[in-house]
Amino acid sequence: MPLATTASIVAAAPAGVCAFNIITLEHAEAVALAAERTGTPVILQVSENAVRFHLGRLRPIADAARAVAAAASVPVALHLDHVTDDGLLHEAADAGFSSVMYDASREPYEMNVARTRAAADWAHGCGLWLEAELGEVGGKDGAHAPGVRTDPGEAAAFVAATGVDALAVAVGSSHAMTTREARLDHDLIAALREALAVPLVLHGSSGVPDDELRRAVAAGMKKINIGTALNIAFTAAIEGSAYRGADPRPRLTAARDRMAEAAAHLLATVSGVAHECRT
Ligand code: G3H
Ligand code: ZN
Repeated sequence: MPLATTASIVAAAPAGVCAFNIITLEHAEAVALAAERTGTPVILQVSENAVRFHLGRLRPIADAARAVAAAASVPVALHLDHVTDDGLLHEAADAGFSSVMYDASREPYEMNVARTRAAADWAHGCGLWLEAELGEVGGKDGAHAPGVRTDPGEAAAFVAATGVDALAVAVGSSHAMTTREARLDHDLIAALREALAVPLVLHGSSGVPDDELRRAVAAGMKKINIGTALNIAFTAAIEGSAYRGADPRPRLTAARDRMAEAAAHLLATVSGVAHECRT
């Protein structure tokens, strides 16, 4: 199936859409397997941090993700996530990404607007969908920090001033949580949905329990970003493997399978399709 676009997947989704962060080829394969098993479109995300891991080079992991996406039997799109570097932003179009999350959320409001406006203008000139963030979602440095909130009035002004296609909002989730105990502010989600015409994006969704994710989607949260939960599944399978040989494949196979099962569960939760756990 030809590579899908983030815009088309989001526009066609009756409920929520999962956007999974991938770091390696096996991660991309696990997510694509999960999407095929559940019959659900999905977004593969490569973050600026993941590019840093790949020796600062975007193309090797982008090319691997693109090949996996193109071989899938369901729509899969590529998204470049949490970009702070303008040079990396400008590599997105040629590397097969249909969307980018440009993250100037740590800047003061006026600077966030100015940088995001420039990024959106550039992205739209290349036919890309641009997501930005307002009211910084905590935990990007690995420390759980769920306290920040996005103000609906400021968010409406931000979207009007920048022309972005989607907005990441702070409603109680936090990046890099290893336990699922985040409580979301559902009244705020409803107020943001009311105030904004663009899709809302939930970052740090690994720490959000299933019932909270379902409520958030029902209230209008559209793109659900998940990374840590899949890393936990992948790493647990490697650490739990009984295989003691040198060949990495038995451990990686177990890790890919475990990650696919975790992704399938989350896809079913967020998109509302039925899925029977295989383990
Ligand atoms: O942009 C990526 C996500 O916000 C992932 O966050 O690793 O806490 O699920 P997470
Ligand atoms: Zn994020």
